[in-house]
Amino acid sequence: MGWRAQAPLDMKKLFHTSLPVFVADTREVADLSVAAEIVGLLAAGETVLALPTGRTPVGIYRELIHAYRARKASFARATTFNLDEFLGVAPDHPAGFARWMEEQLFAHVDLDRARARLPRLENADEDRAAAARAYEAAIEAAGGIDLLVLGIGRNGHIGFNEPGSARTSRTRVVDLAPETRADAAAAFGGIEHVPTQAISMGVATILDARRIRVLAFGAHKSDVVRRMLIDPPSEDCPSTFLRGHPDVKLFLDREAAAGLDAR
Ligand code: PGA
Repeated sequence: MGWRAQAPLDMKKLFHTSLPVFVADTREVADLSVAAEIVGLLAAGETVLALPTGRTPVGIYRELIHAYRARKASFARATTFNLDEFLGVAPDHPAGFARWMEEQLFAHVDLDRARARLPRLENADEDRAAAARAYEAAIEAAGGIDLLVLGIGRNGHIGFNEPGSARTSRTRVVDLAPETRADAAAAFGGIEHVPTQAISMGVATILDARRIRVLAFGAHKSDVVRRMLIDPPSEDCPSTFLRGHPDVKLFLDREAAAGLDAR
């Protein structure tokens, strides 16, 4: 079975003032476009990726697995850093992101697990600041992030940088917003089981990535997409800070683009 990446030709490019926006007829076209870019980086040599969890990146990971199975991609020279993780969650916790990454991507490709990193704070007595600094240091030691894949929360969060996160923030322990905990309730079997805190790359950590590819799909994202592109950059909507980045692209399906003026 072949895996053929298709260029993003069947996407409409909006010449938005703040950053390039690509609107795909279906989300699969956007998934394929970002996956193809990652496959290109993997083929070129040592690659450092930053990866999210959630509904948004699932299609990209599916395409990467297809590419690997078709021998069009190898993760042998890849290092990955996840954006965030709930606090106090062990690697095998069913609702934790380590297990999620294993199921959605890592178990299906040739990535060396020693090079697949997640920020982690499992025990209450661990030194939080030291764990956060160690994650930043590991990213730096890897040479920085070549490409960072990002979804956006309905409240404008990026990673777990909730509203109120500073443009200069680095990896740290964060308090989760009520809506973020509500979104995770099903995975944890009830909101009362969702941790109140997480450890997340900061906004500045994200902005240090050499390329950022943001995706948003579905009508429930149209409002935050409009805010991200139009509102003045501020901590109220951390995704607005992406507009200052030199190589950021936003991929939308029609539903997520519904609030934009396409002229
Ligand atoms: P989603 O979450 O991909 O599940 O929509 C995005 C986010 O909250 O960052």
